[in-house]
Amino acid sequence: MRLRDTKRQNTFAVLDIGSSKVTCLIGEEDPDFGIRLAAHGISCATGIRSGVIVDMDLAENAVRKAVEKAERGAGMAIHTVDVNVSTRSLRSNHLKVQTEFARGEIADRDLRRVMNSSLAELAQPDYAILHAIPINWSVDGEDYINRPVGMHGSRLGVNMHFVISDIGPLRNLARCVERSHLQIKSVTASPYASGLGVLTNDERDIGATVIEMGGGSTSLAVFRDDTFCCVDTVGVGGQTVTQDVARGLVTPIEAAERIKLIYGSALQGADDDRVQIPCPPMGAQDSLRHEPRSSLTRIIRSRIEETFEILCDRMQARRLENYIGSPIVLTGGASRLNGVREVAECVFNKRVRLGQPHGILGLDDVLSGPDFAVAAGLLKGRHHNNQFEVVRGMPDLSGRCYLQKRYSGGGVGRVWRWICDNF
Ligand SMILES: Nc1ncnc2c1ncn2[C@@H]1O[C@H](COP(=O)(O)OP(=O)(O)OP(=O)(O)O)[C@@H](O)[C@H]1O
Ligand SMILES: [Mg+2]
Repeated sequence: MRLRDTKRQNTFAVLDIGSSKVTCLIGEEDPDFGIRLAAHGISCATGIRSGVIVDMDLAENAVRKAVEKAERGAGMAIHTVDVNVSTRSLRSNHLKVQTEFARGEIADRDLRRVMNSSLAELAQPDYAILHAIPINWSVDGEDYINRPVGMHGSRLGVNMHFVISDIGPLRNLARCVERSHLQIKSVTASPYASGLGVLTNDERDIGATVIEMGGGSTSLAVFRDDTFCCVDTVGVGGQTVTQDVARGLVTPIEAAERIKLIYGSALQGADDDRVQIPCPPMGAQDSLRHEPRSSLTRIIRSRIEETFEILCDRMQARRLENYIGSPIVLTGGASRLNGVREVAECVFNKRVRLGQPHGILGLDDVLSGPDFAVAAGLLKGRHHNNQFEVVRGMPDLSGRCYLQKRYSGGGVGRVWRWICDNF
């Protein structure tokens, strides 16, 4: 089949590389609605564990399959993609920076200069900066200013939120996508993309927290004042629950996954002790056993509860528990497990709802599920007003770009930087 070329169309593609599945969505700009889904491709993820490539050939194969299906559906070839990252090394770093300048009216270039110096301040060779977002500003010591442009002052400060990730897994992710003959346009932290996919503008503004429960990891993103202000990740997801079930009921992983999907719940039911679950044997010599459903529920509940407690404790340790806005919105395949919402309500003591992607024309029932929140968010990210994001496009994976800025302290270098920052 001869494929048209996305370069010549008003179309774009995104790739959600997960530990359970790889999803490729091709979207097109609709003049009346915004974004319309043109086609999708889904493949079973292989060679990827907790968002990290563990077998390059298998991972490349999974990416190629998803992309090929989407290309066939849309009848066009794609060349560039926006991708997500869900490694467990994803974390937040908050930094306050302040610069002095000749008193006068603050202009956009002053904002840029302070944000760029914060990037140089934070950079380290062993991790990549995925997002750098100003949370609030200060002028001459006056805090919590939303937009200082046009104000008078001589000291401008910014409270920056950086999302960082270990550089090694990112390089491998980029390599895997490049081996599939695709160029990466941007990289977004998974829970941030989920937030864009399922939260309303008002929720992001007033305050909301997304907990993205994938196969290999569970990550959290806090939004407030329409700003992404915190992220955290634990390397535990739906696949960990399946492994717990396999160990606890002494049954193969494949059977454990099936048992989880059919009988699984994080809430005890009235007749759980009576209902007997058939558990296929590990070895051919063993025979089929039956276990009460209450054992399965206990295994699932303790893992889900522990995962939420870890995230809750970390937020408390960072004194961010008040930042965790209400509601908490659950996304990702593992959030489909019965009773997960109730357990989250109990641990966080907040209102919790399940998130569904919205705001894209043409999403069918399957793609409107919480497991497609990240892919939908990547598509919607195109229209999100991210004018204050300092890192745009592909993040620096050399580990040197911002460091060079920090150490380019020579006279000529400084003059050149001053010229670049000011004109
Ligand atoms: N109906 C369901 N009930 C319970 N669990 C489910 C259901 N549907 C999917 N899951 C679980 O969701 C997980 C996959 O979720 P998802 O597709 O969001 O993961 P992923 O994006 O591939 O992984 P990650 O983002 O962690 O790298 C699997 O562990 C699967 O068992
Ligand atoms: Mg995922």
